[in-house]
Amino acid sequence: MAYLSKLAVAMTQSDIDRLLNKAWAANTRRGITGALVMERGMFFQILEGTEAEVRSLFKLISSDSRHREIQLLMERPANERFFDDWAMAVCRPEGSKLKNGFSAIEEAAASPNPREAAAKPIDDFMHVLREHLLHGESTTV
Ligand SMILES: Cc1cc2nc3c(=O)[nH]c(=O)nc-3n(C[C@H](O)[C@H](O)[C@H](O)COP(=O)(O)O)c2cc1C
Repeated sequence: MAYLSKLAVAMTQSDIDRLLNKAWAANTRRGITGALVMERGMFFQILEGTEAEVRSLFKLISSDSRHREIQLLMERPANERFFDDWAMAVCRPEGSKLKNGFSAIEEAAASPNPREAAAKPIDDFMHVLREHLLHGESTTV
């Protein structure tokens, strides 16, 4: 499952760190994996796990007042996890590949048929993101 949302309140770095620490611990408990990308006041999050766990977590997340205009862009069964090494990978795009990938998802989200339009951009972005996470800070993509 993947969604895009907008930051609704001012969050300091320590607010974000606290949120991420809790999310990481809770996801580990629930067997959820995924990634959260923060860019220009927006969140893009990918959640992987059993359908029941992902749905119940998304319900919690989507009622969180720290973000708004939450747009579910992808929901699909998968045979394998893409981010199986990460309970919650966190990324702030720095390189052009990730920035462009994020923009493509943002554009798709604003189109008349967001879920259809976002399918390929999300897929491409997941690959670039995983590459970035696997090769650490040494590669800026
Ligand atoms: C952008 C964003 C992403 C979040 N991602 C997660 C997450 O992956 N896992 C999680 O447990 N909570 C996540 N949260 C927090 C939940 O919305 C919610 O606050 C939390 O599950 C409730 O836990 P608490 O009642 O113990 O604070 C996220 C919140 C925001 C704003």
